[in-house]
Amino acid sequence: MIKKGIILAGGKGTRMSPLTKAVNKQLLPIYDKPLIFYPLSILMLAGIRDILIIVNKGQLNQYKKLIPNGNNLGIKITYLEQDKPRGLPDAFVIGEKFIGKDNVAMILGDNFFYGQYLTTKLKENIKLKKGARVVLHKVQKPESFGVAKIGKNNKIISIKEKPKKYFSDLAITGLYFFDNNVVKLSKKLKPSGRGEVEIVDLLNFYKSKKLLTADIIGRGGAWLDTGSIEDFYKTSAFVSAIENRQGFKIACLEEIALNNNWIKKKEIVNAIKFYGNCDYSNYLKNLIKR
Ligand code: DAU
Repeated sequence: MIKKGIILAGGKGTRMSPLTKAVNKQLLPIYDKPLIFYPLSILMLAGIRDILIIVNKGQLNQYKKLIPNGNNLGIKITYLEQDKPRGLPDAFVIGEKFIGKDNVAMILGDNFFYGQYLTTKLKENIKLKKGARVVLHKVQKPESFGVAKIGKNNKIISIKEKPKKYFSDLAITGLYFFDNNVVKLSKKLKPSGRGEVEIVDLLNFYKSKKLLTADIIGRGGAWLDTGSIEDFYKTSAFVSAIENRQGFKIACLEEIALNNNWIKKKEIVNAIKFYGNCDYSNYLKNLIKR
């Protein structure tokens, strides 16, 4: 059972400058809450309570103001800094001590998932004992992502990072599950032509050992990208539409913690004080009224 998770929330965010000049991308709003709440909610929904957030050097204080340590969520948050974007597998090198002898899940700080049965799928995926698992979702523009071609029984035939020539429309989302070998393997990776270590190289290694499996999110689920300013607005519109229709919030961290029995009313009251008088707090007030 995977009990530890990493959120990789650094990166320069150059595609979103000037918004990201002073503030990290993952702290910018997706509708009514910072982007980081969404990937954090995914790890929490999976049942993961020991979480490492990797942030850019110099931006730790921004994050700590928002999520100090996880106490109020019944989880443990550890922060570490990345001095420069060395590539996604660098997370496992930075996180070596945090991971220890355990298996680990990783989610990219800018990934948004939503859909029925998502929690069931997550709970299935954290059962991984050996190998690596990726989560795939069909997209219109596969050339913008890591892409996987699958065969019978969802077996992965090949994977490529941002392929120029079409070979599949299944994107590899930014949610991964790894066994403990990931640390050792990540340390061995050499930077590619663009100067970063590549997640696709890591995944290809597992594939060559027949240890790479895939989970597919079908059309009833949503995986949205927050790579550009336009994507931020589209994802915000999606969250707004669902939340205002249903009256449920997506990625309300305290609600997930309460439902998981990780916290009690007292922590919600503390959270209301912490956030102050706002729509999010009003939602929290309603949670403990019931
Ligand atoms: O979102 C899914 C895609 O994420 C996958 O389909 C690709 O296979 C994978 O390579 C990745 O592609 P991106 O082009 O979206 O990666 P990007 O460099 O934008 O980084 C994604 C997030 O991770 C972003 O929030 C910044 C953060 N990051 C990235 C790197 C390379 C770091 O914190 N440190 C890093 O060294």
